[in-house]
Amino acid sequence: MLAEIDRLRQERRAVILAHNYQRPEVQRIADFVGDSLGLARQAAQTDAEVIVFAGVHFMAETAAILNPGKVVLLPDFRAGCSLADTITAQGVRDWKAQYPGGLVAVYVNTTADVKAEADYCVTSGNAVQIIESLPRDVPILFAPDRYLAAHVARQTGRELHIWDGACHVHEAIRPEDVSANLGAYPDAELLVHPECGCSTGVLAHHPDLQLYSTEGMVHRAQASDAQTFIVVTELGMVTRLEKEVPGKTFVPVARTACCEYMKMITLENIYESLRGLSGQVTVPEDIRVRALRPIERMLSR
Ligand code: 13P
Ligand code: SF4
Repeated sequence: MLAEIDRLRQERRAVILAHNYQRPEVQRIADFVGDSLGLARQAAQTDAEVIVFAGVHFMAETAAILNPGKVVLLPDFRAGCSLADTITAQGVRDWKAQYPGGLVAVYVNTTADVKAEADYCVTSGNAVQIIESLPRDVPILFAPDRYLAAHVARQTGRELHIWDGACHVHEAIRPEDVSANLGAYPDAELLVHPECGCSTGVLAHHPDLQLYSTEGMVHRAQASDAQTFIVVTELGMVTRLEKEVPGKTFVPVARTACCEYMKMITLENIYESLRGLSGQVTVPEDIRVRALRPIERMLSR
């Protein structure tokens, strides 16, 4: 299987991009593993003819928006996202109508037609920086993740109008999961993702705590003096951290913090997708052109 994937990768001039939450065996065969921002940057830069996206649908769509001439494959179309499902293009249009002159920033975890309604796209890696750069005299609408929005509002001191969405995996992580792990590993450092429902509760006890995108967690674990880390996000992140920061210990906050959508991508369906060029992700041209603008603004920061 591995040899066949390699053969097809060369034959098709393909690149395999994998998110940090992917299965260990998928991360191992990927040409690049990273967070949403890193993956979008790779998709924008690659000279491969085929992009196989080991991630979820909105990520593959972002790659298709950036690469109209390329084939973008998602090996299993059931790989969606509960957070992206909390908002529709019509929902954004109705919301915008309530705030004339407002600017809309959407998280990258949204569908292409939602991005087409937005002024800015952000990821957990650059949301604070982008919101900070926006004018202060207009309403700022932030969608769809309410926990990331709360984090951005705290960091920037900006008043945001916030969509009421959340990711089912991150929302289910409880402050008690964090405290139980801290009880077991009292010297451990916390690596907390801003999508986590527990972040407000945890910050109440650790007011100086920084929150990190998944790639930010890698950089923090490399730079920190700590030997043990409690990884407060989806389980797959532990695989990436163990690879990038050997010799340190990474404890998943909860074995149940597992995104079933991310895990739908397997070596078998990557192979099948490469073999038959199946699972092509396309975006209608009118939507693609409108969605490209907020994505390009995101990548230019
Ligand atoms: P990042 O990898 O950008 O931090 O995003 C996390 C996530 O939930 C992606 O679906
Ligand atoms: Fe979506 Fe949450 Fe899965 Fe990320 S972890 S893809 S936000 S459902």
